[in-house]
Parts: sequence; structure tokens; C-alpha cells
Amino acid sequence: MSTRPILALLLAAAAALTAGAAQARSFDDIKKDGKIIIATEGQFAPFNYFQGTKLTGFEVDVAEAMVAKMGLKLEWKALGFDALLAGLRQDRWDMVIASHGITEERAKAVTFTEPHYCSGGVIVAKDPAIKSAKDLAGKVVSVQTGTTYLENVKKLAGVKEMKNFPQDTDARGALMTGRVDAWVTDRFVAKQAVDANPAGGMKLGDFLFIERIASAVSKGNTSLATELNKALAAIQADGTYATLSKKWFNEDIRCK
Ligand code: ARG
Repeated sequence: MSTRPILALLLAAAAALTAGAAQARSFDDIKKDGKIIIATEGQFAPFNYFQGTKLTGFEVDVAEAMVAKMGLKLEWKALGFDALLAGLRQDRWDMVIASHGITEERAKAVTFTEPHYCSGGVIVAKDPAIKSAKDLAGKVVSVQTGTTYLENVKKLAGVKEMKNFPQDTDARGALMTGRVDAWVTDRFVAKQAVDANPAGGMKLGDFLFIERIASAVSKGNTSLATELNKALAAIQADGTYATLSKKWFNEDIRCK
């Protein structure tokens, strides 16, 4: 067999691969179309969740205010947390807003905008003796798959077992039903869960780590990231962000 047919085969394979990877839409492309497509999870109250069939939450409000500043229409997509950043790479949507912490690892695969809030992972338990990282030694801990909570619990020495759940609400359920000793989640998510279930006996513990939370766009889509950053700065300057933050948290949760 000469090298020619092999080369032809390789070229065909390469062409097939490139065909699968669509090109990210620049801000100009989106502007021309008039509509931006944003993906979120919809299972992470009070940031992004469903009230019946209606997608709502702080991040939904913030994204809608930013998109209005950009003079665009918005189409929402709701998907499993694990699918969100991967879909950016396949250009199935233009942006993701789902409480992603900015990490080095993720920044290799996507481009982050400026953070829209600052928070961190906290320990939630029913046993008041489980409050800080050292108290997790010998304990079973629940976390959502693919999150910074999982990454940070993994780093702790002595944790007996980490149980992973595709949704954070299931990680919470595992604590409520006593299948785990502690749940690690976002501090504001934890606060709302504790307040919403006064009879549940869950208590807020210490921060395990802190993080800056941002939207993401396809890796290198700087035209879109720049416009999103401008829009975020604009709603933070004109009081819109402060109003939304007050509405959802009764405090201003922007990064200081
Ligand atoms: N802040 C955490 C992270 O960066 C959790 C995000 C979870 N978001 C969600 N929509 N469930 O991984």
C-alpha cells in the first residue's frame, strides 16, 4: 500500500473532526443575530433554579440585566451542570452562568469574564460538632459532581468517604436523610437551605475555601467576554446589580 491512500484517510479524518467543532460566535456575530444563547443548570437556588417551569434566580436576573444593556435578546438553555462548559467548546451556546468558580483548571478550557459574585464552599451538618475542615476527619461528606466543593473536599486528609451527586439538591438530600455526616456547598445556597428547613436541623459551619464566581465563554472569545465585562460593570455602576443582590440576599455579594 502506498502512503497516498493513508494520507487521504488521515485528511478525511481530520476534516471530520473539524466539522464537529463549530466556531464560537463573536460579539459581532451575536449582535447581527440579535440573540445570545445562555446556558445554566437550574438546580442551584437561589442562583439559578426553576419556580415551576420558570427559570429564575439571582444569576438569571443578572444575566438578563447584562443582556438588556448589550441590546440583545436572550435565549435560555437549562442542562446538567456537567454539560455546561463542555457545550461551550462545541459552541452549542454563547455563554454559561451557573456559579462556576474561577479555577486554573477550568481557565485552560474556557474564558472567564469578571466575577459577578464572591462566595465559597461551606460545611453544613446536623451534628453541631462538625463545623470545620478538621471535623470532617472520619466523616462521610456529600458534594455535587464536577464542582470546586468536590475538588476541595478531595484535598482534605482523613475524610472517610465522599459521596458525589449529579445535582447539589441531591447532595443536600443525602444530609437531610442522614446518609452523610456533612454536605459541602455554596455559602448562600447553604444559608437558604438551612433557613428554608428550620425543622431539618442543618447548621452552617465554616468556610472550606473561598472563590470568585464568573460567567464563561468559549476559550478565546475575547470580543464577547469584553462586552459582557462592560455590561456587568454598567449594571454594577447604575445600581441594578445592588438592587438585584438586595432582592435575593439582602446584601451586596459582589467581589470587593
Ligand atoms: N461554585 C461551585 C463550582 O464552581 C459550584 C457550582 C455549582 N453550580 C450549579 N449550578 N450547580 O464548582
